[in-house]
Amino acid sequence: MTTADLIIYNAAQLITCAADDGPKRGAAMQDLGLIADGAVAIRGQEILAVGTGAQIRAAYTAREQIDAGGRVVCPGFVDPHTHVVYAGDRAHEFEMRIAGATYLEILAAGGGILSTMQAVRQAPLEHLVAESRRRLDTMLALGTTTVEVKTGYGLSTEAELKMLHAIEELDRTHPCDLVPTFLAAHTTPPEYGDDADAYVDLVIREMLPRALDWYAHSVFASGRPFFIDVFCEDHAFDVEQSHRVLAAGKDAGMGVKIHSDQFNSLGGTAVAVELGATSIDHLDAIAAEDIARVAASQAVAVPLPAANFNLGQTNFAPARGLIDAGAALALATDINPGSAPCPSLPLVMAIACRYQRLLPSEALNAVTINAAHAVGMGHRLGSLQPGKQADLLILDMPDYRHLTYQFGANPVWRVIKSGRVVV
Ligand code: NIG
Ligand code: FE
Repeated sequence: MTTADLIIYNAAQLITCAADDGPKRGAAMQDLGLIADGAVAIRGQEILAVGTGAQIRAAYTAREQIDAGGRVVCPGFVDPHTHVVYAGDRAHEFEMRIAGATYLEILAAGGGILSTMQAVRQAPLEHLVAESRRRLDTMLALGTTTVEVKTGYGLSTEAELKMLHAIEELDRTHPCDLVPTFLAAHTTPPEYGDDADAYVDLVIREMLPRALDWYAHSVFASGRPFFIDVFCEDHAFDVEQSHRVLAAGKDAGMGVKIHSDQFNSLGGTAVAVELGATSIDHLDAIAAEDIARVAASQAVAVPLPAANFNLGQTNFAPARGLIDAGAALALATDINPGSAPCPSLPLVMAIACRYQRLLPSEALNAVTINAAHAVGMGHRLGSLQPGKQADLLILDMPDYRHLTYQFGANPVWRVIKSGRVVV
């Protein structure tokens, strides 16, 4: 008998999402590694063993035991693309869009990202942290245990660093694990007028070194990656500017991410593949030849269907085509005050199943093991396997398909983060 700290038993379905190397791609995205009548043994912050109830009972004892009561147990969700750190809101733009203005028109007129930039620049660090913490609380209650978080609402050296400090403070004080991404190249701030090239110079020469210095002295330097990202789009950055930003980050040792093909296909996807990107995100307007390119690459494709839904659009990224071409696909909320004020990965999964024809199994792998790989943490997170961090959910349902079949309510009964019950 081995002594564990915690045993969770009587799971009608234990969904392991087990994968041995890399994300699941193509047909393998339907494989959930499901164990009927499952149980899991945990010691400290890590998973000791998974198996059937009989197997775990025969080999492990623990002081603390949780009866899952015939519910579903699965890995904690990883949200691999968020802008959850921000101040203020853009409810007025929501009304403007209903009246007919488009997202890019609002941005071009100095609203959108630039409106949130004003709010973030004005917010003291404590306010930024407090506002963002409330959103993380909601996300955790909805099953998200790891959150990628981008900067990109500061757009000055000082304000981008304030965002990085907010991310670090939230990671330190919130149960969720955060993974930082530097997105100073989100759009050009008003001080630079139309001169995006001059702003890119600032990003590369001044801001990036300061961000790298922050990272080196942060809690993230031991064990979590630091990503570079760029918004490759009209009214943001063209392909050349995007390439410069991403290549500078890559040369400094950062992982590469990109916002590509959200509204227009400018060629950013090919650039990101060439640079060995970890993830390529949005992809609503992806060109046919780029589907094969992404599928043949190591990059995880990350559609963000809550943004389409929120913008009242049905031009969803071709997630079905990407998976059928052999791509590894993850899903994210993109939570932000403009294009996707949405904390819920279950809702994102529900949209993806209906409009992008993902199977419930594919959607679940897309927010667990594949999402963990999309933030460079697949070795540690995203599946229930011995040695991995004990982040898991008990879902209040008898069958995992209910996670996407039903929608609108919170399906999560308990959240266990690093071996501790937090919800
Ligand atoms: O991923 N597209 C660019 N960035 C965000 C939106 C940010 C915002 O509107 O504040 C996105 O959709
Ligand atoms: Fe985004």
